[in-house]
Amino acid sequence: MSGELSRDLSGELAEAGLRLGIDGPVATVTLARPERRNAMTGATWFGLARIGEALPADVRVVVVRGEGSSFSSGIDLRMFEPGGVTGQGSFFEAAERAERDDEAFVRWIGEAQAGFMWLRRPEIVSIAAVQGYAIGAGFQLALACDLRVLADDARFCMKEPALGLVPDLTGTKPLVDIVGLPRALEICLTARMVGADEARELGLAEVVVPGDKLDATVADLTAALLAVDHGAATATKRLLQGAPGRTLQEQAQAEAREQSARITTMFGKR
Ligand code: ACO
Repeated sequence: MSGELSRDLSGELAEAGLRLGIDGPVATVTLARPERRNAMTGATWFGLARIGEALPADVRVVVVRGEGSSFSSGIDLRMFEPGGVTGQGSFFEAAERAERDDEAFVRWIGEAQAGFMWLRRPEIVSIAAVQGYAIGAGFQLALACDLRVLADDARFCMKEPALGLVPDLTGTKPLVDIVGLPRALEICLTARMVGADEARELGLAEVVVPGDKLDATVADLTAALLAVDHGAATATKRLLQGAPGRTLQEQAQAEAREQSARITTMFGKR
């Protein structure tokens, strides 16, 4: 990435514990606070949202990774202390805000969720590269991605209920979609660790590899995804995403409409 946007954005992201690298059609988002196991705050989520807004249109694959031994330890636990996190406040201040204006607080959470939502755009494929722990918000960030590649030491945990909270960073729907309601309930309400092998069995990981093969595996997957035509990939992702909400008849019609657009693009005169 080059130019003014790059400098401004890089500084903003560094403050939020994030790094963005762009190499042609591949963007790499790195959680870069390894000394706290990539714990996240509101700033991290708003930073992720900024990346989504600023992403160049020719980016096709977004890799989300964590620096150091773990993908992410989830929300910064200092938020549970009265002192909170410098510049980010605490849950005590958040409670005051919610008591004053519940709707404004709900909107604030919506803005944080925007940092996770863009990873599902049809124009891109997002890949979470997970080593070590992905806890709470970290697990939800991995769930926000289309695909998950895990190192064999990876561990998922939906810790929120054990801390008195609900998972609210868009993770509950993909979790239920992937593992089904009973298993999602069991994972969330026991807040247990799900290891890499179980994650693969449950469909929470596309592949599990030794830790030293994580980057190479993600690179191979990225290359394979890039080998497919961008327009076809976008239309196919859009179709697959819409499938659970449609009847067979509606899905068949959606397929026909997408195909008509593909054939026109590829072979039409205009
Ligand atoms: N918030 C703030 N600081 C953290 C967090 C966190 N979520 N996680 C780790 N750290 C800090 C530790 O306090 C420690 O700091 P120190 O070096 O100043 O003592 C440093 O990161 C390293 O942590 P360790 O526990 O030593 O690292 P380890 O690799 O052994 O364990 C693990 C990693 C399992 C992630 C552990 O740190 C942990 O359980 N963290 C808390 C996880 C948690 O409950 N997150 C909230 C989820 S709920 C949600 O996200 C909404």
